[in-house]
Amino acid sequence: MDKTKIAVFVSGGGTNLQALIDAETSGILTSGEIVLVVASNPEAYALERAKKAGIPGVVCSRKALGSQEAFEAAISEQLTAYGIELIVLAGFMSILSEDFTKQWPERIINVHPSLIPSFCGKGFYGLRVHEAALAYGVKVTGATVHFVNEIPDGGRIIAQKAVEVQEGDTPEILQRRVMEQAEWIILPRAAEQISAEIAKEKCK
Ligand code: GAR
Repeated sequence: MDKTKIAVFVSGGGTNLQALIDAETSGILTSGEIVLVVASNPEAYALERAKKAGIPGVVCSRKALGSQEAFEAAISEQLTAYGIELIVLAGFMSILSEDFTKQWPERIINVHPSLIPSFCGKGFYGLRVHEAALAYGVKVTGATVHFVNEIPDGGRIIAQKAVEVQEGDTPEILQRRVMEQAEWIILPRAAEQISAEIAKEKCK
């Protein structure tokens, strides 16, 4: 069966990208192949990880391109050039418009560092999510992989995994635990699940 062609969108450190690359090496991700990395910022360390893994990386910066339309046109051009079938948002901090997400129904997945519907939606990203969880005083948090639609963090849930909050946690410590115990596990598994579904669809 033909592998599903995946583009991973990144903005920062890229540890989730690394988890996906490692999943391909270890045989957890077999139905899909990462063929492109799209970074919203030229400084993203994730680009180094892509390079080391021999995956082409491109930068599409909304700021540099000047408008949402130009930004999404540049992304779409790359996706077409690489024959992308599935987009994985792995710490991608730029907003994608409804016009864009509508063109990829149930073909974009995202990892979010909380148990949706807690601590999600507009303004909840990265460390802020863990700051909010600690400020609220929850004893359990976690991560969610979901489809992306026009509602921020509002698409259908694919997978979730709970993680305990511990006495004395800082946002940074909690972020690391949520990554290690949840994100790096459920994102590659979800990417495999959706890649397999897309690959099967193509055979029909
Ligand atoms: C991850 O914790 C990811 O869940 C989060 O940003 C971090 C990126 O880390 N994403 C969001 O908050 C999106 N709403 P990484 O670059 O090391 O993968």
